[in-house]
Amino acid sequence: ERTQVGIVGAGPAGLLLSHLLHREGIASVVFESRGRDHVQQRLRAGVLEQGTVDLLSQVGLGERMKRLGMPQTGIDFRFGGASHRIDFTAETGRTVMVYPQHEVVHDLIEARIAAGADLRFDTPVTRLAGLDGPAPSIEFDADGATRSMRCDFVIGCDGFHGICRSAIPPTVRKEYDRIYPFGWLGILAEVPPAAPDVTWGCHESGFAMLSFRSPTRSRLYLQCEPDDRPENWSDDRIWSALHERLDVADMPPLIEGRILQKSVTGMRSFLVEPMRHGSLFLAGDAAHIVPPTGAKGLNSAVADIQVLGRALADHYRKGSDRMLDSYSETCLRRMWLVQRFSAGLCTMVHSFPGQSDFIKRLQRADLEYMTGTAPGRLAFSDNFTGLPVEA
Ligand code: APR
Repeated sequence: ERTQVGIVGAGPAGLLLSHLLHREGIASVVFESRGRDHVQQRLRAGVLEQGTVDLLSQVGLGERMKRLGMPQTGIDFRFGGASHRIDFTAETGRTVMVYPQHEVVHDLIEARIAAGADLRFDTPVTRLAGLDGPAPSIEFDADGATRSMRCDFVIGCDGFHGICRSAIPPTVRKEYDRIYPFGWLGILAEVPPAAPDVTWGCHESGFAMLSFRSPTRSRLYLQCEPDDRPENWSDDRIWSALHERLDVADMPPLIEGRILQKSVTGMRSFLVEPMRHGSLFLAGDAAHIVPPTGAKGLNSAVADIQVLGRALADHYRKGSDRMLDSYSETCLRRMWLVQRFSAGLCTMVHSFPGQSDFIKRLQRADLEYMTGTAPGRLAFSDNFTGLPVEA
């Protein structure tokens, strides 16, 4: 079989690229190892930068997002027993949108199927071949047999645990990695938002966050051990930890409710250089991971795809490879700033085991400066609402 662009992975990165290429009249095939239901129901990120909202709206994916999404203008940082709000919209003129990633994936799949896309679920890619030459191909399992798809370009959107990154030879590939000594217990609760803002609890007993997924559902997080397990956290233990880390005298207390889901995720910063090798291009989690503080995972995947979509359009429509040739450099330049912001916040708001008192006071000083001064508030807001994408 043959197509122009072979895409590995039907997460937000792979699906959005396929949608952007279709709008440019460029053919693509998306291979996804899991089933459609699984992909559409995976609970992941939930905050879209202004740039992501604008892009999705521009390419016909804004209707349901605008209807169900919840625009945000500020974040409430709780520390030292008090609330410290940053109004990032007042600082930058930009808002962000709470709209769950699985809803974005739902909207993308609907749009691709309506457009008659060649979207192959339950079809794992097993090998990439010919990436250095003129005839790259993707090998995949279908109906119990191994088959092959010839394409001009192979796009690795297969996430952190995919196979595409390792197709870049180890002699060429440089990986940067940092694993944090804690994880997050993620909780989905049938609770209306207790406050209008996403709320961060930067407490010495550990970090906590109150976010939401809809007017009746809250998404809450508790810092926990890196290898912690959901069964170690009874509902009582969860609510008392959330009250301890989030409640402050000058704001209404957290509202409790039925807990629907609990899961533990690890915390890591990761980046691979380069993001391109021959006809293989990596985008999204396949190339980089950020800790969830700062909500940059989905947004940086979208930023990569925005650049790559433009670059592939220039190749096929204008015969120019200038943007393709600078793809990796363009994305890495922005990604290192995103890594810096995400890792910096993660280090600022969590209590690290065995932390010295000096470092604890520096963390508090960082929070005071970030929320209590004009340059501090502007710097946070500029990063949180989204750095510019060169596309
Ligand atoms: N063949 C086909 N599909 C694969 C393979 C493979 N060998 N390996 C992985 N996949 C699929 C996964 O099943 C998944 O659906 O690739 C997809 C990768 O999607 P994501 O992990 O969501 O990555 P990405 O599209 O880059 O989106 C990044 O997702 O993980 C979150 O926090 C992350 O919000 C960020 C977003």
